[in-house]
Amino acid sequence: MLRFVFTKTARYPGLEVEHNQFRRSLRTLLVNIKYRGFRRTLLGLLAIACAKAHLPLLQDHRFSRQNMRESGLDTDGIVELDVLDIPDKMKSSAQRYEAASEYEFRHILERLNIENSSYHFLDYGSGKGAILAAAAKYPFLSVTGVELSEQLHQTALQNIEDMKRDVRTQCGSIASVQGDAASYTLPPVPHVIYIFNAFGPDILQSVLDHIAIDLADVHEPIYFLYNNPMHHELLEMSPEFDKLSNAFGGKWMVFARPGQV
Ligand SMILES: C[S@@+](CC[C@H](N)C(=O)[O-])C[C@H]1O[C@@H](n2cnc3c(N)ncnc32)[C@H](O)[C@@H]1O
Repeated sequence: MLRFVFTKTARYPGLEVEHNQFRRSLRTLLVNIKYRGFRRTLLGLLAIACAKAHLPLLQDHRFSRQNMRESGLDTDGIVELDVLDIPDKMKSSAQRYEAASEYEFRHILERLNIENSSYHFLDYGSGKGAILAAAAKYPFLSVTGVELSEQLHQTALQNIEDMKRDVRTQCGSIASVQGDAASYTLPPVPHVIYIFNAFGPDILQSVLDHIAIDLADVHEPIYFLYNNPMHHELLEMSPEFDKLSNAFGGKWMVFARPGQV
């Protein structure tokens, strides 16, 4: 128990990068209170405790249900790899669908403290579009997701229609593109790039190669927000990127390519 709380540990071996679980839990708690408020955070925590004790109480207050009620979008659930409609040969590198925490994402983005209205946002492996919806609340010039699964992409397209009607949407445009992240060509504009452990090192390396080539003439800094950064060593070894932070006990890593003259 003490090892779980205080030492670097992978909670789900093989699925999650090693991080400091204590620092992660503390930061997650504070971020939930910051965005949800104390009452909704407390109800969410009690709902988790009830579920663990097999008590059918307070389940409408689970964080995922609070999120769905608030956004009205279909972004919930886990879609395991064996039922994901992607080519078999891609399954060895791909990760299952699971939405990231909107509030962790917003906290990381706000701490970057950049002029969002000068940037385009790109989510590699965007699934049903949970983080596209979160990014759309900021004045990015555009918000784009690249998703391999046709089914998840179709759900994202429906969600995008709802996002466009949402008065909280501030970005210029929102799109989901169906395809392999490894072959996506980025437009040569300033980017904030985001990945939630979507794929293995082979695809990530192709993504980094694309960034180097496609964004070679972009002078502004390029930001790379990596959630559950299983293959962070590729970014750490990259001559282009510097690590800016190790947020949530290392559960998130933020990198930047400095501006170029
Ligand atoms: C963990 S989910 C992340 C969902 C979303 N980005 C978020 O943060 O809520 C990973 C997603 O990556 C997608 N994916 C896996 N390999 C991919 C690839 N080569 N190209 C594009 N998407 C891929 C999966 O289908 C899955 O939807």
